[in-house]
Amino acid sequence: MTTRIIGTGSYLPKAVVTNDDLAKIMDTSDEWIRTRTGICERHLVTEETTTSMCIEAAKRALENAGISGEEIDLIIVGTVSGDNMTPSTACEVQAAIGAAKAVAFDMNAACAGFIFALNTAHAYFQAGIYKTALILGAETLSKIMDWNDRSTCVLFGDGAGAAVVRADESGLLAFEQGCDGSKAHVLLGKSRGNNNPLVSTDTSLDYVHMDGQEVYKFAVSTVPASVQRVLEKANVSIDEISYFALHQANIRILQSVAKRLKVSEDKFPISLDHCGNLSAASVPVLLDEMNQKGMLKKGGKIVLSGFGAGLTWGTVLLEW
Ligand code: UT7
Repeated sequence: MTTRIIGTGSYLPKAVVTNDDLAKIMDTSDEWIRTRTGICERHLVTEETTTSMCIEAAKRALENAGISGEEIDLIIVGTVSGDNMTPSTACEVQAAIGAAKAVAFDMNAACAGFIFALNTAHAYFQAGIYKTALILGAETLSKIMDWNDRSTCVLFGDGAGAAVVRADESGLLAFEQGCDGSKAHVLLGKSRGNNNPLVSTDTSLDYVHMDGQEVYKFAVSTVPASVQRVLEKANVSIDEISYFALHQANIRILQSVAKRLKVSEDKFPISLDHCGNLSAASVPVLLDEMNQKGMLKKGGKIVLSGFGAGLTWGTVLLEW
């Protein structure tokens, strides 16, 4: 028994902010952002929230799968930017889509969040516990960015992506996931401090800090090795892969991974040009765009990979 994706959906906020828009409010330029990252514009929330974007993406994925919320056993939302400390985003989605029998929880694996959620659903399926799941990656990163730090805020955007997955005879062929907590400091967003009667710390909320070059080095070395291990596990040759749908952090990372794997860049679809980096939402938003464009053919093999804060990474080989 394995796991098949039977529907996808996504939601991007209505407001679009171009590089030129940012250059009007900070010391940056379209030229710098575009050449260093490949990003041209991003969507930022105005009235949307992480929860509302999840609900819309979930409804679209259910419609694409042709099933109702009542059929869902499990909902997992990969996010680092939920609206509440509690309840979880997933519980709010459960209520909104009428998934009364579903168990629902959030998962924090940063940019690998959707992949970890997919692998968790897969493990439940393999154990025979659940049959149908809704997995999401969703972020409102604009609220945890330091808008005075041009080296991070220009990179990220807001959005949500979803997939309906089902226990099936074919689909997910192999996966791996990993973490390296010893490098946690290279991409950090701290929680509020403690002000209990015994301690007094700064309780203001901090923003995300990133050592971009360290994360870059991690990504271009870890991702190709992870992809190769997953292909070996499934005994699938790299030539059989139609697409590598990777976390969308930087076009130079995608180009470097393609080069290291000796694969044409054409097999690396891109959404970062119009979305920026969406952390956990990157992979499912990209996957939905590929699905909408008819790029995913039945029986075709694709690789998904997410990587980022933690440090975390996860790679999945799927037969569509
Ligand atoms: O999703 C999680 C995973 N995250 C990633 O994978 C991110 C990986 N890292 C990267 O993509 C790249 O390291 C960045 C895009 C973040 C940065 O690119 P870089 O080529 O490593 O640039 P840099 O940090 O070395 O900065 C080069 C210069 C600096 O100026 P000086 O010191 O050379 O004078 C920066 O101050 O660019 C400057 N700079 C900017 N200039 C204009 C930094 N941000 C900006 C900006 N606009 N927005």
